[in-house]
Amino acid sequence: MTDRLTIRRPDDWHVHLRDGAMLDHVAPYTARQFARAIVMPNLSPPVTTASEGAAYRDRIRAAVPADHDFTPLIVAYLTDSSDADEMARGHAAGVFTAAKLYPAHATTGSAHGVTDVANIMGVLERMAEIGMPLLIHGEVTDHDVDIFDREAVFIERTLAPLVTRMPELKIVFEHITTSEAVEFVNSAPANVGATITPQHLHINRNAMLVGGIRPHAYCLPVAKREHHRLAVRAAAVSGSPKFFLGTDSAPHAVHTKEAACGCAGIFNAPYALESYITVFDEEGALDKFEGFASEHGPNFYGLPLNGGTITLERGATVVPDTIGEVVPFHAGETLGWKLV
Ligand code: DOR
Ligand code: ZN
Repeated sequence: MTDRLTIRRPDDWHVHLRDGAMLDHVAPYTARQFARAIVMPNLSPPVTTASEGAAYRDRIRAAVPADHDFTPLIVAYLTDSSDADEMARGHAAGVFTAAKLYPAHATTGSAHGVTDVANIMGVLERMAEIGMPLLIHGEVTDHDVDIFDREAVFIERTLAPLVTRMPELKIVFEHITTSEAVEFVNSAPANVGATITPQHLHINRNAMLVGGIRPHAYCLPVAKREHHRLAVRAAAVSGSPKFFLGTDSAPHAVHTKEAACGCAGIFNAPYALESYITVFDEEGALDKFEGFASEHGPNFYGLPLNGGTITLERGATVVPDTIGEVVPFHAGETLGWKLV
């Protein structure tokens, strides 16, 4: 039995670090675990221009303790009026690593998102030309589509046609939750990848609803049925270079989650690696963990692998009930691995 695993330093390819006091509170947790992170731009107002992106990067750097070697990778938030030249300029300047497509009103902070992908075709064509990845929140927002079906319907109506129309565009299908998404990514060309969160590996929809409503298990896309969780787990541990680590850590203060209309988002940054490795261990796939955590992401983005290593070993990690004003994923549980 492997009791200790040393891997190349990992990255988080999807995180929400917020701004202001929340940024100061949560950024050190991500910087302690990861060398780099793709930081999502759904602030209020969203990060849409290169100068806003550069200013946000400075605020993130200021929130990370000086002894942490951590690089935030900034993402542009696409709107109906995004400008191809501004995206290309931001990308060339090294500010924007990628751009994010939020269908308008799909999730937290998506009110300024894209109402129809047709409105940003010119931007996407330019991104394909310059090799700038498109990151997608893959859910339709149509009122007649059940929330548990919104990812699968997005594949049919939006993603599959987009991949066919723009075969050169690098696309990350973010935080996949369904067997349909796994099958789609597996059968798509090599320029289509996906991130996988710890929560979608650990929980199915019962976690939100059995024995009472549990707002801290609520995120978007919402956790689905057990057979979907098993499909996502199989993808994560498969060794396929298309699947990589993206926590979607999304902190909300406890009173905004424990409310009549609670916010979507799970704060998993403090123990993300311990959470993921538990799954790889349960699946007998510890040998696949380094690829998922440290290699597939940079290879997909065309960025160098990190130098340096981290070590995880078997041992108790007791997850506290709260961290500041935020309830973490696995609150009150003890995980079987710890970061050395
Ligand atoms: O649960 C989520 N929370 N899903 C998202 O897509 C956004 C995120 C947030 O920003 O809170
Ligand atoms: Zn997210």
